[in-house]
Amino acid sequence: MTSGLPSSPASPAATGGARPIRFFHRGAVVEVAGLPPTTTVLAWLREHAHRTGTKEGCNEGDCGACTVLVGQLQPDDSLAWQPRNACIQFLPTLDGQALLTVEDLALPPGSEPALHPVQQAMVDCHGSQCGFCTPGFVMSLTACYEAHQDSGTRPTRQALADALSGNLCRCTGYRPILAAGERMFTLPERRIDAGPIVAALKALRADPPLEATGFAAPRSLDHLAALRLARPQARLLAGGTDIGLWVNKQLRRLDDLVYLGRVAELHTVREAEGQLQIGAAASLEAAWNALARHWPHTREMGLRFASPPIRLAGTMGGNLANGSPIGDAAPVLMALGASLVLRRGQAQRTLPLEDFYLGYMSNQLAEGEFLQAIQVPLPQPQHQLRAYKLSKRFDSDISALAAGLWLQLDAGVVRAARFAFGGMAATVQRARGAEAAVVGQTWTEATLQAAMAALEADFTPLTDLRASAAYRRRAARHLLQRLWLETRPEAPLAPEQLSVWSAR
Ligand SMILES: Cc1cc2nc3c(=O)[nH]c(=O)nc-3n(C[C@H](O)[C@H](O)[C@H](O)COP(=O)(O)OP(=O)(O)OC[C@H]3O[C@@H](n4cnc5c(N)ncnc54)[C@H](O)[C@@H]3O)c2cc1C
Ligand code: FES
Ligand code: FES
Repeated sequence: MTSGLPSSPASPAATGGARPIRFFHRGAVVEVAGLPPTTTVLAWLREHAHRTGTKEGCNEGDCGACTVLVGQLQPDDSLAWQPRNACIQFLPTLDGQALLTVEDLALPPGSEPALHPVQQAMVDCHGSQCGFCTPGFVMSLTACYEAHQDSGTRPTRQALADALSGNLCRCTGYRPILAAGERMFTLPERRIDAGPIVAALKALRADPPLEATGFAAPRSLDHLAALRLARPQARLLAGGTDIGLWVNKQLRRLDDLVYLGRVAELHTVREAEGQLQIGAAASLEAAWNALARHWPHTREMGLRFASPPIRLAGTMGGNLANGSPIGDAAPVLMALGASLVLRRGQAQRTLPLEDFYLGYMSNQLAEGEFLQAIQVPLPQPQHQLRAYKLSKRFDSDISALAAGLWLQLDAGVVRAARFAFGGMAATVQRARGAEAAVVGQTWTEATLQAAMAALEADFTPLTDLRASAAYRRRAARHLLQRLWLETRPEAPLAPEQLSVWSAR
């Protein structure tokens, strides 16, 4: 066993009262105790373990310089590696998992070939100049390499670009890095040796749940519900992709966290009773993939939600509970008529998502209550759904405007409509006037014009750094027009005909 830190007794605000955090790193199980629960993986690596290969750029999940891989044991005892932003992941969330950094790719002296194929490909393709971003790119490429070697497939160039959408490089340019991503598969194969890691993680499964003053990680819904009632002042932590920024950027002190990541029931995504049921702590990646299977037009929005490391860590429940008016999930789910299952102790209630928000960043959750699941009615043949996101960059950007637009069309007549917009008000909201203008009408251009006119009275958007009020009004009208062009009974246009990203 190695230890990056002495396993000292925990302070009241620290983890480890019951036992230290334990995870696999650099060939052994590491134990850490005595650190504040919001210590990030990056801070631990650089300041405590003195492994400085992992870099700090933005410290807010945006640049990918800090990308590491986190290995999780799967139900079938295989190991899955996910890229993560070490700068916003709190160290206690690593408990029971494996941490792999760029240093782990180094081969023993005298090895032939001398470099890991990802590193060799970066050298061969001139994928690095100043080198600051390089460890992060190498780790994202390694995640892609491992996943594709497992499945025996090769990524397209576009899939590589998507896998790297959370990594920024300011000097090399992306073409050589993408070329390296293609080349790495042509070099002699070299895989991470999973055997000893799996054995160690299996042994760690026997550890009792982390439960201390500053950080508790319950493993069942009932335990979580009891803790939530007992410690209503504690902050629920899901993926931490919002909370990590409160700590790093707003310097907020959070010394009592209840972590949802170990509650298996909260991670399930399943179909039952005519609904897609998404556990509140299911990752954004899993949740958007499930949505896209039923509503293929949500796929682009899912792909444009942040980046792979954020989508793998962050949760759909966190997105809804955080309640940002420019969050991407709420407009789509509201348009689909989703409901939320809320739990307090043993009591459960179900609330339509559209009734959940009370005002800017405030919601209906009572003291001691939490979001357990999201229920989305499955589609019928006469349903149409489009999801649109407008932002300054295609990849990894926050929306200026987001829309979920849903119609029930019956022989060219609109029987029902739900138009939900984000970025137009203090909360994500339905455009009731525009909806009323189309329901019961034939879906003609005249009906569209009536809806566009009615939309004017639905919202009074703000001007901020992402967009002006005038832009938001105009763009929202045009998103309705785009919906009509794609769903009109006569000669509907394919989304590719209207998207500037049609090459994808
Ligand atoms: C680089 C970057 C890019 C991003 N891009 C986007 C984007 O494109 N679109 C977008 O919408 N968002 C984006 N986000 C914001 C963020 O990723 C999402 O809001 C994410 O879904 C938050 O989920 P989480 O699990 O990380 O929440 P956390 O940070 O863990 O929690 C957020 C809030 O929700 C509460 N909470 C979490 N789960 C529950 C629950 N089950 N019950 C009750 N309360 C709960 C927490 O207490 C906290 O108040 C981005 C963030 C970063 C850092
Ligand atoms: S330092 Fe930029 S994503 Fe972590
Ligand atoms: S090589 Fe300099 S930032 Fe990428």
